[in-house]
Amino acid sequence: MRKLQDLEVNGKRVLVRVDFNIPIEDGRISDDYRIVTALPTIRYLLERQARVILMRHLGRPNGKVVEKLRLEPVAARLAELLEQPVNYVRDCIGPEVEQAAASLQNGQVLLLENLRFHPEEEKNNEDFARKLARLADCYINDAFSAAHRAHASTHAIAQLLPSAAGLLMEKEISALSQLETNPRHPFVVVLGGAKVSDKIGVINNLVNKADYLLIGGGMAFTFLKAQGIEIGRSLVEPERIEYAKELLIKAGDKIKLPVDVVVAEALKTGSAQKVVSCREIPADQMGLDIGPETIALFSQLISTARTVFWNGPLGAFEIPDFSRGTISIREAIAQNSGTTVIGGGDTANAVQECLDRFTHVSTGGGASLEFLEGRILPGVAVLTS
Ligand code: 3PG
Repeated sequence: MRKLQDLEVNGKRVLVRVDFNIPIEDGRISDDYRIVTALPTIRYLLERQARVILMRHLGRPNGKVVEKLRLEPVAARLAELLEQPVNYVRDCIGPEVEQAAASLQNGQVLLLENLRFHPEEEKNNEDFARKLARLADCYINDAFSAAHRAHASTHAIAQLLPSAAGLLMEKEISALSQLETNPRHPFVVVLGGAKVSDKIGVINNLVNKADYLLIGGGMAFTFLKAQGIEIGRSLVEPERIEYAKELLIKAGDKIKLPVDVVVAEALKTGSAQKVVSCREIPADQMGLDIGPETIALFSQLISTARTVFWNGPLGAFEIPDFSRGTISIREAIAQNSGTTVIGGGDTANAVQECLDRFTHVSTGGGASLEFLEGRILPGVAVLTS
């Protein structure tokens, strides 16, 4: 991959694709991890007196202007973090934007409006990319979490300007590639989340590389069902039972499933709950978290690992009553002194309070999963000379 250090950026107008696709409610940002992780690249450029033009998307406005998906709150937060003003324009192409880009001085920052207000962005349209390219002398992609999208700002544009990966992109690729190509053993993969379907690609790719695959969350019940266990009203994907059966045969003892679970009648706060063995789930109850024996079993395996990758909550983490499993496993991984890599999305949310206790917390939800499926991401491929 071409690197930021390979580009001559001093005094240049540098167009940087960042991914600040973050939760904003009534103008308030509740999680700025993706802004914070983009700072090293922005600071690198500012220290070299580059004129930094940032572009990004927010949400899925489907090619139309949606007022609540404008980027003003982000400009304000970024200005606070950089401790310098951030100019903001209410579009990302056109004469007003070109004027703003042209009048930018060395060491100044300009934030462009939501790229997805234009339908051409998601179509990877070359004319649209050309209009963006006109704003700058070179292009940096630091949006690892959007690199699985072949869009104008992540793909087409990289062929129009001298281009390279930003520091965050480089860090993500290096952390995730190490899992794929050269993990230190024992390598333990912890997978959770609701659905088996979302993780099949990752399981298939990592099952041969890992020593253990610990499975929790809603997806575990499809595996338990595949073993002929009655799972009551727990989540199940009937069309994946056959896959789960085959995997259990193929991977044998590598796969560790919950041995006990927290059950309740409903997925809601205050629902009466109890811990039962996985073989005794009552017909009218659903499993909503892993139980204490499972926590102990998983934690023990994690403590012996030299590499751990974790993606997906182990229970219905969003409801505090059912978050104990996820929090305990998070603690077990945080205490591991080897390489610990956390997948993005919900898993990154679950570690927000203790980010610095892990080797790497990916900013990419879909992107990190696709990468670990062994796929080549279009936004990365285009930066490879
Ligand atoms: C993400 O939040 O995972 C990325 O920004 C990609 O967003 P998208 O799924 O809307 O393309």
